[in-house]
Amino acid sequence: MTEPRSIRLDALAYGGDYNPDQWSEETWVEDARLMVEAGVNIVSLPVFSWPQLEPTPGVYNWGWLDRVIEVLWGAGIKIDLATATATPPSWLIRRHPEMLPHNVDGRQLEFGSRQAYCPSSPIWKENVARMTRAMAERYGNHPALALWHISNEYGDHVSRCWCPASAVHFRTWLRNRYGTLEGLNEAWGVGVWGQRYTEWDHIEPPRTATGPINPTQLLDFERFSSDALLELFQVEIDVLREVTPDIAVTTNFMSLLRDLNYWDFAAVEDLVTDDAYPDPADPLAHVGAALNYGLMRSLKGGAPWLLLEQSASAVSWRDVNVPKAPGQMRIDSMQAIAHGSDGAMFFQWRQAKFGQEKFHSAMLGHRGEESRSFKETKALGAELKKLEPVRGTRVRASVGLVVDWDSWWGSSATESLPSQRLNYAVQARAWNAAFFRLGHPVDTVRAADSFEGYDVVVVPNLYIASNEQAAALTAFVERGGQLVVGPFSGVVDETEKVHTGGAPGPLRELLGIEVDEHWPIPDGIHEKLEVAGESFAVSIWSEWLELISGTEVLGSHTSGELAGRAAVTRRASGTGAAWYLGVVPEEAGLDALFRRVLGAAGLPAREVPDTVLESVTRSSEDTDYTFVLNHGTEPLAVTAAHDAVDLLGGAVADGVLVLPRYGVAVLASARTGAVPFIGRV
Ligand code: GAL
Ligand code: ZN
Repeated sequence: MTEPRSIRLDALAYGGDYNPDQWSEETWVEDARLMVEAGVNIVSLPVFSWPQLEPTPGVYNWGWLDRVIEVLWGAGIKIDLATATATPPSWLIRRHPEMLPHNVDGRQLEFGSRQAYCPSSPIWKENVARMTRAMAERYGNHPALALWHISNEYGDHVSRCWCPASAVHFRTWLRNRYGTLEGLNEAWGVGVWGQRYTEWDHIEPPRTATGPINPTQLLDFERFSSDALLELFQVEIDVLREVTPDIAVTTNFMSLLRDLNYWDFAAVEDLVTDDAYPDPADPLAHVGAALNYGLMRSLKGGAPWLLLEQSASAVSWRDVNVPKAPGQMRIDSMQAIAHGSDGAMFFQWRQAKFGQEKFHSAMLGHRGEESRSFKETKALGAELKKLEPVRGTRVRASVGLVVDWDSWWGSSATESLPSQRLNYAVQARAWNAAFFRLGHPVDTVRAADSFEGYDVVVVPNLYIASNEQAAALTAFVERGGQLVVGPFSGVVDETEKVHTGGAPGPLRELLGIEVDEHWPIPDGIHEKLEVAGESFAVSIWSEWLELISGTEVLGSHTSGELAGRAAVTRRASGTGAAWYLGVVPEEAGLDALFRRVLGAAGLPAREVPDTVLESVTRSSEDTDYTFVLNHGTEPLAVTAAHDAVDLLGGAVADGVLVLPRYGVAVLASARTGAVPFIGRV
């Protein structure tokens, strides 16, 4: 793999999506002036403008875009240039209606929104390559070009397509994977319910069928669909590598998204970018955001990433769209930077006057310079300049959380499971939230990683487990790591065949347990778990565990059919230990267990779990920049090193720092071996 190229920008990125084709040329001039006033140094455009750039087939209309870019560049503003392939023009669709996507019932979706294409459509791919080449040839040498913005949020509206073209592509993908039809039949376990295939052409995408569909067919369709969009991404990357080999490429991700395997997407691009819309109505939204950002920085091994979209205030696509209170846009931006983003960008610069997004906030609200969002935008732009020293630095985290798309898909694509209630993302978020409460930012890792630099690795779920993953996890424990594995792990192999002897399959030796039966808990029922004399509620899931000798029982069921049986175990191995949770404990139970895990790893943990105070450290070779964030609405006092300096100008007096509601400090101090751990006074 080649070295990733860098964004061509010598500052933290600040700006947003800009849709100049919705505005007059006079407005562009005003926009450039106000952008400069706000400290904006980069904008993303023209994401949805293909129809304006090629109004009739083969006839390009570059004039307006040339002029917009001149106006912006004249003001010193750089461009995150979209390839304009986020949505096809109507003429392309009417010429080739077969490129419209089909839903799971096989019904074709209409034009009238965006992303109106089948990811596998050969016509679409051909046209995407043509448009991308035209954009690259036109603007590839422009000094304003900082970054290529390929497409937009792959999979946002259409991540799976069940049309005939997708069927053809799916078969090709399956041939590549299995070679022969016999191989496919073996992999899919077609002996059940008479599913044997005698011709490749008999295989279809899993459209709505008479009853539950073959689980491996469903799993392969998830894998294929992620790969189909990845191939489409690669079509554009290939063109851009050829025409503009020095310009970095990205596509904007959608945080922790089920449908696309972002490990694969990140591997082929230069810069990871994310769109993040924490809900202002949710007082704990920042806890989930921490995991999303942990994923973003981890996708390229800890390299800085970029928050490419967020809202200045309200969005317009929830049922109820609550605005951000004063200060929330600032702390949301700071949180992303704390977690490794080299900038903070928005959707969008100027609030739309018409269309689907006219009620979506923007940096420049409907009231223009007078709008609250513009005032906060200006203030944030000025503050970001003070954070210049953190650009390029990397977050230090001690905890890695395994994100495995195969297990996510396998445990959710089929209705044929012990329970539909054990939700991959909910579990991953719950485990991350516990570490948040205990004071630790979490990186994400793959199950077959080297886990270098982590003291604790947690696996909320690894439904599909391979020997390779088991070997990597075992090596981590043997050289001193603390590993925690969650329920319903090690159940099946890559083709969804149950591991011989049952769960946890290849993890059996390491964890020192055998699952005799999965024992899901009915809705509304809470059972009890006892750990070190304390009692905690568990719901959703439990397991009948049998122990291999040498395995310690840390927690037991004290109610229900499993009363008296092991629920939480630990087995030492080498100089580390592997912990297993055969249950889904309530928050307090997770906190208590993970506090012990952190203790075993020699790491600090908050005595009183905290959902409001967050601290994350980005480090250069010699300096720690510790972001301290008060996500609450009450002031908060924390302890800080006596010689720490707040880059944002706050005062550390006698080792105490007081943060107002939504307050943020960025404490610079000499780099220490251990990551600074900030606590309340
Ligand atoms: C994103 C999208 C943007 C805009 C934004 C509104 O999903 O990429 O184009 O629609 O949402 O929140
Ligand atoms: Zn299709």
